[in-house]
Amino acid sequence: MNLRSRWSGRRKVLALAGASTLVAAGLVAIPGTVAHAATQCSVTYSANQWQGGFTASLTIQNVGDPLNGWTLGFTFPNSGQRVQQGWSATWSQSGSQVTAQSMSWNGSLATGASTSIGFNGAWSGSNPAPTSFTINGTVCNGGTPPTTPPPTTTPPPTTPPPTTPPPTTTPPPGGPRVDNPYVGVTGYVNPDWKAKADAEPGGSRISNNPTGVWMDRIAAINGTTGARGLRAHLDTAVAQGAGYIQVVIYNLPGRDCSALASAGELEPTEIDRYKTEYIDPIAAIMGDAKYRNLRIINVIEIDSLPNLVTNTGSRPTAVPACDVMKANGNYVNGVGYALAKLGALPNTYNYIDAGHHGWIGWDDNLAPSATLFAEAARASGSTLNNVHGFIVNTANYGALTEPYFNINSTVGGTSVRQSRWVDWNRYVDEQSFAQGFRTQLISAGFNSNVGMLIDTSRNGWGGSARPTGPGAQTNVDTFVDGGRLDRRIHTGNWCNQSGAGIGERPRAAPAAGIDAYVWIKPPGESDGASTEIENDEGKGFDRMCDPTYTGNPRNNNNMSGALANAPLSGHWFSAQFQQLMQNAYPPL
Ligand code: BGC
Repeated sequence: MNLRSRWSGRRKVLALAGASTLVAAGLVAIPGTVAHAATQCSVTYSANQWQGGFTASLTIQNVGDPLNGWTLGFTFPNSGQRVQQGWSATWSQSGSQVTAQSMSWNGSLATGASTSIGFNGAWSGSNPAPTSFTINGTVCNGGTPPTTPPPTTTPPPTTPPPTTPPPTTTPPPGGPRVDNPYVGVTGYVNPDWKAKADAEPGGSRISNNPTGVWMDRIAAINGTTGARGLRAHLDTAVAQGAGYIQVVIYNLPGRDCSALASAGELEPTEIDRYKTEYIDPIAAIMGDAKYRNLRIINVIEIDSLPNLVTNTGSRPTAVPACDVMKANGNYVNGVGYALAKLGALPNTYNYIDAGHHGWIGWDDNLAPSATLFAEAARASGSTLNNVHGFIVNTANYGALTEPYFNINSTVGGTSVRQSRWVDWNRYVDEQSFAQGFRTQLISAGFNSNVGMLIDTSRNGWGGSARPTGPGAQTNVDTFVDGGRLDRRIHTGNWCNQSGAGIGERPRAAPAAGIDAYVWIKPPGESDGASTEIENDEGKGFDRMCDPTYTGNPRNNNNMSGALANAPLSGHWFSAQFQQLMQNAYPPL
C-alpha cells in the first residue's frame, strides 16, 4: 500500500537532565479600560536540553477575554541563549529579547483556549528558563513552578479546553459528538496485536498502546485466524473500559490501485458487494446500542482518493488500474457510502485518509485533493458533516517534524525547496503538512473544526543514524541531507523502510489543529512481501517491497529502501518490529 508521487508535481542526547518547566500566570487589569478588555494569560515553558542545544515547548493559555492575534515576549536570562528555528509562530530575537507572533491559524484564542508553540535553540554557559512572559505587552507574571509538567492534551484553538477526564473505568456518557474524541479517555488496546508484541523481546515496552483494528476483508468482520472479529473487538473495548476504538475501513473495490502489496479481494466493479457485504454489516454491528458509550473512530480507506489525484491521467506517475477506479467512480462512491452509513451513527467519528506530505504536499496536488475529498464526502448521499477529520501518514514513514530546517530555510539564498529531497514540495514534514492542508480542506468546504490525526507508529527515525544538528551549509542538498531526520532514500518509498523507528506515542491534542498522534499501522505488521508469496488474501507482489528494486516514477526511480525477508502485508515481521524498537524516537 501507500504509493506516493513526487509529481505533479545522531542526534545523541548528551543530557536530558536539563528539562525544566515553569508557569507564569498573570491577571492584569489595564487601567482606564473596561473590564472585559483585560488581557490575562498563563504561559508554560519547558525545555529538553543537551550539550549546546535545546528544544523548548511553550503553551500559551488565554485566561482573559478573547484574543485576536497575540505576540509573546520573553527575555533569555543568559546572553548565550538563542532561538534557532521555531514553529507555530513567527519567531525573532534581538539581543536577549525574544518575540513570537501568532500565525493566521492560531491567532484567535477564545477565553480558556490555549495553543502550543516551540523552538529549537542553542546555548553556551548555562540554559536557564526565562522567568517572565508577556502577551501583547501585558505581563503574565506571579506564577510558581508547577508540580506537574505542562498539559499535553491542550485542544486546538478552535475548541474549548478539555473537560476533566472521566475515570478510566467508566466509559464517558453517550450523547452528542465531542469535538476531539481522543481527549479525556483511554484507547482500546487490541489484545491480538498486543500478544504478538509481547512475544518479542522488549515488546512489552510498547504493547500497551492503542493501535488500529483493520477490517481489511469481509472475513475480518467475523474474525480470521489470530484476529477476533469486529463485535469481539468492541466487546473487549467495553470490557477494557476504553473510551475510544480505532477501526480501519479498508476494502474498496479495486483496492490499492497504484501498488500490489495490498490489492484486495473485491474486483474494481464490485461496489455492491462493498456496500452490502462489507459496510452494511459493519454499520449494523457498530450501531448496537451496547456500544453507544464508545467513541468509534473510523479511518476511511487508506490511499484510495490520493491515488486518484496523483496516479491517473497523463501524469508520468499514472497507473492504469487507478485510471479504471477514477473512471468507474467506485472509490468516490464507496467512500461516500462508508461516510454516510457510518456517519449516521451517533458515536462514530470518520477520518478520511489524506496521504502524506511526500505525496500530496506539492502545489498541484493540494487543491485537487481537497476538492476530490469534498466530492467523495458528498457522494452516495453523504454530506460534509459526516467527516470529522482527516488522517495523514497512515502506515507511512514521514518525519513528524524536521527540527533542522523548515520550508523557508535557505542556503546562500537558495531555497531548500530546490533541494533534491524536498523537490519543490510545500512541506518538509507531516505536522506542518497536516496543519497547512487542514486550512485548505476548510477552504474546500469542510467544517472549520475538522481535526487532523497523524500516524506516528513508525516515523521516529531515532537510533545512531539520527542527525544531531543541521547539515553542512555547502549547498541546499548537503544542508537538507545532512540534517533531515527522515533517512529514507526518497519520500515516495513506503514499504518496510530500513532504519525506521517507532515515533511519538499516541496522545490527544498534541498541537494546534491536530486531534491526536495515533498508531494506526500496528508496528510489526509488514507493508508487503519482499518476494512473491502465494496467498488467498488477494495480495500481490509489489517490487517496492523488494530491496533490490531500482524504482519507478512514483519514487523517482530510486532504490526501494525496503527490508529483506518480509512476509505478506499485515503479517508479523519480527525483524522489522525489533528495528522499530531499536530506532524509536523518543527512545523507549
Ligand atoms: C494490509 C492489511 C493489514 C494492514 C495492517 C495493510 O497493508 O494490506 O491486510 O491489515 O496493513 O497491518
